[in-house]
Amino acid sequence: PLVLHVTGARPNFPKAAPVIAALERRGVRQLLVHTGQHYDRNMSEIFFRDLGLPEPDLNLGIGSGSHAVQTAAMMTALETVFLDERPDLVVVYGDVNSTLAAALVAAKLGVRCAHVEAGLRSFDWTMPEEVNRVVTDRLSDIVFATSPDALVHLAREGVDPDRMHFVGNPMIDTLLRLRDRFDGSRVVTELDLPATYAVATLHRPGNVDDPATLDRMVAALRRVGDRIDLVLPVHPRGRQQLEASGLFDHPRVHATEPLGYLEFLGLVAGSALVVTDSGGIQEETTVLGVPCLTLRPNTERPVTITHGTNRLVTTEGLAGHVDAVLAGDGPTPGVVPPLWDGASGERIADVVVDVLASAD
Ligand code: UD1
Repeated sequence: PLVLHVTGARPNFPKAAPVIAALERRGVRQLLVHTGQHYDRNMSEIFFRDLGLPEPDLNLGIGSGSHAVQTAAMMTALETVFLDERPDLVVVYGDVNSTLAAALVAAKLGVRCAHVEAGLRSFDWTMPEEVNRVVTDRLSDIVFATSPDALVHLAREGVDPDRMHFVGNPMIDTLLRLRDRFDGSRVVTELDLPATYAVATLHRPGNVDDPATLDRMVAALRRVGDRIDLVLPVHPRGRQQLEASGLFDHPRVHATEPLGYLEFLGLVAGSALVVTDSGGIQEETTVLGVPCLTLRPNTERPVTITHGTNRLVTTEGLAGHVDAVLAGDGPTPGVVPPLWDGASGERIADVVVDVLASAD
């Protein structure tokens, strides 16, 4: 039997790595397909190296485009791949356009599909990722959940309990495996950062695409810079707008290129706090015990608030939260969510092996 993994965007890679490694240990034949959604060296290649992922067997080279153009191009290319390779199971990860494209093609061809990181819901239908999550789960035959709330959402949407598996968080497998090698020192030295600094990331369409919203974000981040040195690895989306906004004219707000996995998490692990609109970073800071202030009205990852160090903040409220953290009054490290223990890839691989055997 053949398992075909579809990845394409930066957040997919640390989720796929432990699943691929665990299936490798079980001797399962696998193919790794990269859609090419992310193609810059520091959005893709550097992650394969840092994570010890095998080179993709196929890179479809799709690249950027509008949602329809990008998703359609991925579907067209993936259909040919699935017809040629005849996988017994397609595995998709997270909530990016590559995830949705692969799940749709698998469903139409009658190829079984497994979704890793299923059931997360922000209930915010304006987020492209929410559309991708809901539709991918509906199309998948097997769903792997990272947290108990995800099981509740899936059950409410009518997913048969036999198809649901609570396995914990494979992205945290990667974090725990590589934690000893996290190293932000190059960036700390190059930017001459003091011992106490903060890290920010900002790339979500809802935050960077509308000029008035972006202005509010920039003003809020400058107020953070008044309090603590702030490093911002700049995602290609919104880079021009951020650079033109004057954010980096602030003497204590520092831009960097997007960083690799080990450097980014090294920087985060050494920081006093993180300001972000990313999804995965809310989870990583929860495990690292670093306070995380999330510039969003909602989160699809509520365990990072109930168990972890995450708080949802507004642009107006951000500076006050930073003051609280710096005064020792911020979110404190809580309990690590259940099954975020480094063995999620093994659990997923056990289920996959069972599924492949039942198909014979
Ligand atoms: C995608 C995901 C988002 C995730 C993010 C992490 C979707 C719908 N969104 O958003 O959930 O948080 O990845 O990074 O899939 N670009 C480059 N080089 C690259 C990739 C992108 O320059 O290697 C630029 C292009 O101008 C492109 C833009 O970034 O148009 C957006 O890229 P895209 O793949 O559409 O989505 P992301 O914003 O990266």
